[in-house]
Amino acid sequence: MKKQLIAGNWKMNGSLAANEALLQALLAGATSAKCLVAVCVPAPYLAQVQQCVAGSIIDLGAQDVSQHEVGAFTGEVSAAMLRDFGVRYCLVGHSERRQYHGETDAEVATKAQRALAAGITPIVCVGETLAQREAGQTEEVVKRQLAAVIHANGHCISEVVVAYEPVWAIGTGKTASAEQAQQVHAVLRKQLQAATAHADRVHILYGGSMNAANAAELLAQPDIDGGLVGGAALKAPDFLSIIAAAH
Ligand code: PGA
Repeated sequence: MKKQLIAGNWKMNGSLAANEALLQALLAGATSAKCLVAVCVPAPYLAQVQQCVAGSIIDLGAQDVSQHEVGAFTGEVSAAMLRDFGVRYCLVGHSERRQYHGETDAEVATKAQRALAAGITPIVCVGETLAQREAGQTEEVVKRQLAAVIHANGHCISEVVVAYEPVWAIGTGKTASAEQAQQVHAVLRKQLQAATAHADRVHILYGGSMNAANAAELLAQPDIDGGLVGGAALKAPDFLSIIAAAH
């Protein structure tokens, strides 16, 4: 069975000093994790974190990548640049990017392609808003978001990580119940199975207020292969508890 993956999403938090302290605490506490561990950090800190986690069990992740390869795109960071800093994972299509930066399904799919072409594993985020859930559109929304990535990436789809993050559960303290999460994960697994013979290899992470108290139950679900952790990833004891709950 594959190891679960616990990925921290630091979002726009941190400083040289705070990162150093957090990473030292994580490295001291996570010497023998049974699962895979990554931290997705703000781009300016990639070099710092690369150095801190070198040779450890913690892999380096980024939070976004340009849909373009190279050239006149001021402010953008390319997949090749991320690769230069040893980035292993890159979030694409996080709901905050979709919501505040208008990222479309097609752009997200292109970003996933760029990451894969550079040897970086995209963590493709999908998830419904509260209004969509209440309108009974959850399945339709997540399937549409994932379909765009499957369509653009063909067989390579078995190389991506998918993160199901219900938008209403992000940063709100409201977690999807283990059953609610499993239900959607099963839908996504089925969709992947229709696209690749290796769907079981794909990590499908749950994200949205995962914390030390609820991680074990979520991570015990058959189609939940790890977590994408925001707030709780900024506190070493909480992130370490989640890592300890994973297998
Ligand atoms: P949260 O964020 O754990 O703070 O809800 C998760 C995410 O947005 O990736």
